Amino acid sequence: MANSGVLVTGANGFFGLHLLQVLQQLGVAPLKALVRAETVDGAWQRLKCAEQQYQLALEREGLEVVPCDLSLQDCGLSEQSREHLLRGIDTLVHAGACVNFTASQEQLLRTNAGGTSQLLEMAKTARIRRFLQVSSLAVCNGLNLSEQHPVPETPLNDQPKAGLSSYGQSKLAAEQSCYRFGAEGLGVSVLRLPYLLASASSFALNPHGYLDLVLRAALRIGASFDDAFSLHALPVDLCASWVARMVMAPEVPLIMHLVSDPPVQWRDWIDAASALGEPLCLEPMEQWYGRLRKAAAASRSPDLLSAIAFLSLETSHKRWMHGNAHRLSFANDNLCSLVPEAARPLKLSMDYRQTVLHQLAT
Ligand SMILES: NC(=O)c1ccc[n+]([C@@H]2O[C@H](COP(=O)([O-])OP(=O)(O)OC[C@H]3O[C@@H](n4cnc5c(N)ncnc54)[C@H](OP(=O)(O)O)[C@@H]3O)[C@@H](O)[C@H]2O)c1
Repeated sequence: MANSGVLVTGANGFFGLHLLQVLQQLGVAPLKALVRAETVDGAWQRLKCAEQQYQLALEREGLEVVPCDLSLQDCGLSEQSREHLLRGIDTLVHAGACVNFTASQEQLLRTNAGGTSQLLEMAKTARIRRFLQVSSLAVCNGLNLSEQHPVPETPLNDQPKAGLSSYGQSKLAAEQSCYRFGAEGLGVSVLRLPYLLASASSFALNPHGYLDLVLRAALRIGASFDDAFSLHALPVDLCASWVARMVMAPEVPLIMHLVSDPPVQWRDWIDAASALGEPLCLEPMEQWYGRLRKAAAASRSPDLLSAIAFLSLETSHKRWMHGNAHRLSFANDNLCSLVPEAARPLKLSMDYRQTVLHQLAT
């Protein structure tokens, strides 16, 4: 009998948990979940915490949870547990990654590039049919890509230039390992995700999202920078439902950009804040950044300090907006062949924006 199971890594993460929920609703079985932990009980405990955090509830039946650590040799799995893990698996969705922009380059590379290579090796040995790599549009930052034409859904084999964050470098290196294993016969597809916005159904927020971080800081200090900045983004539950469509599809193209135009405009969030009775005064970037630093120094608020830590990762704090692929557009023809509604314009309602802002402000 053909395998029908799906294994999801990073299963207690913002994206991984939403994906697990959709796969369960679609009746995928068996379903296995890799969670960073030392024991099975510990892994279940972490999954439960994530369910509370993201307001989701998974069925226990048919779900197997396996502890691992992607940064360790063989992901911390014994030979026996590796064999068991991949038994009955048709598709592995690799969503696990260190998504902390302030983590060290060594940690990002070890977890994101090293962890992916190890899983690819295991998938090849176990002869699973398909490996879906959850990547990011962030891999396109700092590469020589034209702003005149949409970035095609093709492999990126270039070496990263200055401007690609350590996170982006680690995700690009992971993609490049996928192409190598693909060339050796493993069925791989690379799914470049956009920024993940709060769920459209529960409004659970992206825990590491820099847009959320900066928006929250702007709300706290009552001011925003005045800049026409936009970002390709999707609510996490919508993105998970699209990826689930790929899991169920008989064939998946090698690369897909999970984007639906137009990109989300920063200004629309400012308008939503005004409509909510939280008007933000607009000021030039330098002035706003100065105000943020002063407010952070005075209050020592962890939210403001995190925003400063993120913005100061770049040599110029302006670059997080302009260096982050925000000026690029992305072809999505491969995506539209599997998810036809991706061709329609993405509409985020005022209600959605206001509820997200309300969550961020409280
Ligand atoms: N968030 C975005 O806006 C965004 C945009 C584009 C692409 N992506 C990609 O989407 C995927 C999911 O991201 P996310 O936003 O859901 O981030 P997340 O909430 O941090 O989820 C990442 C998952 O990976 C796990 N992980 C990290 N290091 C690990 C390790 N050493 N061993 C085992 N598991 C480990 C995390 O476990 P712990 O809970 O133990 O840390 C968590 O379950 C990632 O591949 C990311 O690159 C995200």
